[in-house]
Amino acid sequence: PQPAISTETLPATPEGLAQAAAVLCAGGLVAFPTETVYGLGADACNDRAVARIFEAKGRPRFNPLIIHLADIAAARRFAVFDDRAERLADAFWPGPLTLVLPLKPEAGLSPLVTAGLDTVAIRVPEHPVARALLAAFGGPVAAPSANPSGRISPTRASHVLDGLSGRIEAVVDGGDCPVGVESTILGLQGGARLLRPGGLPAEAIEACLGAPLEMGPPPEAVGESPIAPGQLASHYAPGAPVRLEVSDPTPAEFWIGFGPGTEAAPLNLSPTGDLVEAAANLFQMLHEADASAAPGQAIAVAPIPDHGLGRAINDRLRRAAAPRS
Ligand code: TXA
Ligand code: MG
Repeated sequence: PQPAISTETLPATPEGLAQAAAVLCAGGLVAFPTETVYGLGADACNDRAVARIFEAKGRPRFNPLIIHLADIAAARRFAVFDDRAERLADAFWPGPLTLVLPLKPEAGLSPLVTAGLDTVAIRVPEHPVARALLAAFGGPVAAPSANPSGRISPTRASHVLDGLSGRIEAVVDGGDCPVGVESTILGLQGGARLLRPGGLPAEAIEACLGAPLEMGPPPEAVGESPIAPGQLASHYAPGAPVRLEVSDPTPAEFWIGFGPGTEAAPLNLSPTGDLVEAAANLFQMLHEADASAAPGQAIAVAPIPDHGLGRAINDRLRRAAAPRS
């Protein structure tokens, strides 16, 4: 293991962001807020910097990274946009949508970013702090969620420090992430395919394209190394075991409620049953439940409807509840 480095917390001010950009330029790792979750950023053209992301997270090398750019013009330098990609980027960028597009190999991305694939995952985030950092840095920033691999994603700077302090140079503190679940990942190789449900509802993408999406990993990918998190069964896992769709928790369980009838729960994703509020609260409340649960106590989560942002919430909850490998 590497010796610990001291992790600096930077304010989201012009000075703090200039310092963060300088760390990226020097090949360092900087966690920063996006509207979805905090990302762990590195210069996507610097092999050593990108390799350090995998090392800091304990992330399997075969799992490729998303690159973050300031706008669609910058994104076009790294990937080929067809008509559908143009339409989607125009409708939803900046925002919580990641497009998997044909890579332009001559653009100079580190091959570690794409794990050797001929596609690249690109996103233009909406969060003002992310946008300011991308503008200050001026190039592509590779950034997975800023958590140790397999653990709950961070939605505030303190979560990042809990998991990665001593392993990264800095975190920019931009407060709580407003969306609270990761971006929706859409593949456009052949039919439009939902590779990961996320902060942009699938229904909105279908309305934009005027056609239903194909769901889940492409059939030819089954059995191969995972190319999207859907294939990694246990993910987003708190320390405590998790049980889902629980309307009647046992006295031994720590209950997380959702909607009318669950007011008795000590934590509630949304007492009124609002899926947007529930997504924003999800990882924060999993972190809190994990900290509050007694040793051996299980976390029980109320049923969540499986539409809109509920699809992303249920996806993350199923992974949190999956048998640990
Ligand atoms: O909201 C988000 O997307 C956050 C913030 C920081 O932007 N990032 C994020 O990154 O969730 P990460 O690494 O935790 O998840 C990205 C997923 C990976 O699990 C990977 O499998 C998939 O994107 N991915 C990346 N490149 C891909 C590609 N070329 N083809 C298919 N899937 C890809
Ligand atoms: Mg992640």
